[in-house]
Amino acid sequence: MTEACMIALVSLAICISSSFNFAYATDAAAPGAAESNKFKVVGHVYCDTCRVEFETKISQPISGAVVKLECRNRTDGAVTFQSPEITTTQSGDYRIHVEGDYEDSDCHVTLVKSSRPDCSDLTEDWRKARVVLTSLAGVSGDIRFANNLGFKKKEAVPECKKVLTELGYYELQDELGHEVVP
Ligand SMILES: *[C@@H]1O[C@H](CO)[C@@H](O)[C@H](O)[C@H]1NC(C)=O
Repeated sequence: MTEACMIALVSLAICISSSFNFAYATDAAAPGAAESNKFKVVGHVYCDTCRVEFETKISQPISGAVVKLECRNRTDGAVTFQSPEITTTQSGDYRIHVEGDYEDSDCHVTLVKSSRPDCSDLTEDWRKARVVLTSLAGVSGDIRFANNLGFKKKEAVPECKKVLTELGYYELQDELGHEVVP
């Protein structure tokens, strides 16, 4: 290894370790504020018109869908927070208000109910949206964005073939050797 390389490596290491220290310093300064935290969790519910379990450009917002947020103690699984059931707006968006700090909990937004009978199949259980609801984890600001969640349409719409081809979906499917038929 050349000398220049060594120097670059060493300064990179110093850089990384000092930003680590910095993160720790801000963390240590926060605990007093923990109790008064207020968060707004925002997200979106869509109809997965291709039954692929991800959003495409022909996914549709679902208004009147119901979601809820739940936090569970990471150690013993006890429920530490439960929101009321929240209904999405005309544009499929929701906003959930949370008070408190949930540093030791895992918090997820889950789908409860669709408002569209033709688009109400639940995606796999693990596709819930995780949100971090603590100011102690280096995430700042009171607005927390949850990944979009979708209900699957009973039958994929015909346009899917074209949309998914554009995305290279079928090639990927061939590569992975999976049988996924939208
Ligand atoms: C989580 O569970 C552990 C073990 O039961 C307990 O010691 C801890 O106080 C709990 N934390 C919260 C925030 O409820």
